[in-house]
Amino acid sequence: MEILIATIAGLALMVIVVLIGTRGRPGRFVSAVGQLLAVIGGNRWQVFVFVLAAGIAGVFAWLLYIYPSAGIGAAQPIPFSHRVHAGVKQIDCRFCHPYAERSTYPGVPPGQKCLFCHDHIIAGHPEIRKEHDYFNTNTPVPWRKVNYLPEHVFFNHQRHIKKDVACRECHGDVESMDRLKGRDFKMGFCLDCHRKKDANIGCWLACHN
Ligand code: HEC
Ligand code: HEC
Ligand code: HEC
Ligand code: HEC
Repeated sequence: MEILIATIAGLALMVIVVLIGTRGRPGRFVSAVGQLLAVIGGNRWQVFVFVLAAGIAGVFAWLLYIYPSAGIGAAQPIPFSHRVHAGVKQIDCRFCHPYAERSTYPGVPPGQKCLFCHDHIIAGHPEIRKEHDYFNTNTPVPWRKVNYLPEHVFFNHQRHIKKDVACRECHGDVESMDRLKGRDFKMGFCLDCHRKKDANIGCWLACHN
């Protein structure tokens, strides 16, 4: 519906612009377009090269500037990698996020937990020194939260994990990500699974408060 209105409005605007631009004689516009087409027709080869070059430049710009960061989440104060820890080293999610099954908010691990291993593993690594600095000054690491739900949505990890809904069903393939990318949880996403698994879909009672 929006698309239809936008198209009609766009066409109307074009007509107005043509009428103003040709001072009320749209015939001039038609002949101008005819001339342009004739010029393009006479220089097909050059036009082809130009369009090709513009296309290649566009693809390169995309590869250089947009593609690399498209799949990567926010930079964190310490470049912690889920790929290294949960993927390569196969540390259980619940070792670091133990509250996932016990409370509403899983939370991120305190520095102490990192140092449990890193007092012994790559203890001199500059990023681990940073972790020490935070720990020694009693400052929680200012991790940037990446997943949000709107205030009025009631969500509870516990209920889901008790029913064996895997972390990956909602968070994706965390084991292969260096930086986590937030996910835009839409209500349809919650409802699709609730329908499939016969969970509560009286969401105005269950999920919204
Ligand atoms: C159960 C043990 C364990 C815990 C807990 C742990 N790590 Fe690690 N971490 C490792 C291992 C093993 C490596 C790989 C070391 C190597 O490459 O030799 C590693 C590597 C790293 C690296 C270097 C990665 C790289 O790209 O080279 C950083 C930074 C790091 N961890 C940060 C953290 C932070 C921050 C925490 C706490 C949130 C943490 N780790 C908790 C075991 C652990
Ligand atoms: C060694 C500890 C460690 C392990 C193991 C670990 N995580 Fe994390 N997790 C963290 C830390 C630290 C953060 C905060 C920094 C970040 O977002 O990368 C975090 C953040 C997250 C977040 C984003 C929270 C938010 O909204 O900002 C999710 C989701 C998550 N972890 C899921 C998982 C899953 C699923 C697994 C298992 C496949 C897992 N984690 C294994 C330490 C760990
Ligand atoms: C049914 C979907 C679902 C499942 C299954 C799920 N999560 Fe989440 N998770 C979410 C949503 C939605 C949020 C954002 C919650 C919010 O902002 O209140 C979130 C947030 C998080 C956070 C950030 C919490 C914080 O305090 O900032 C972590 C860490 C996390 N999840 C880890 C896990 C782990 C580990 C598992 C598996 C044991 C898991 N999740 C399973 C949907 C899920
Ligand atoms: C991959 C499947 C899946 C996804 C995605 C999912 N859920 Fe669920 N959810 C379940 C299952 C299964 C239950 C039933 C748990 C039970 O019966 O105890 C449940 C239960 C709940 C409950 C408790 C309902 C009650 O009966 O009181 C709430 C609230 C809830 N989900 C909210 C959400 C929200 C909000 C989202 C989206 C951010 C979401 N869920 C996404 C599978 C899912």
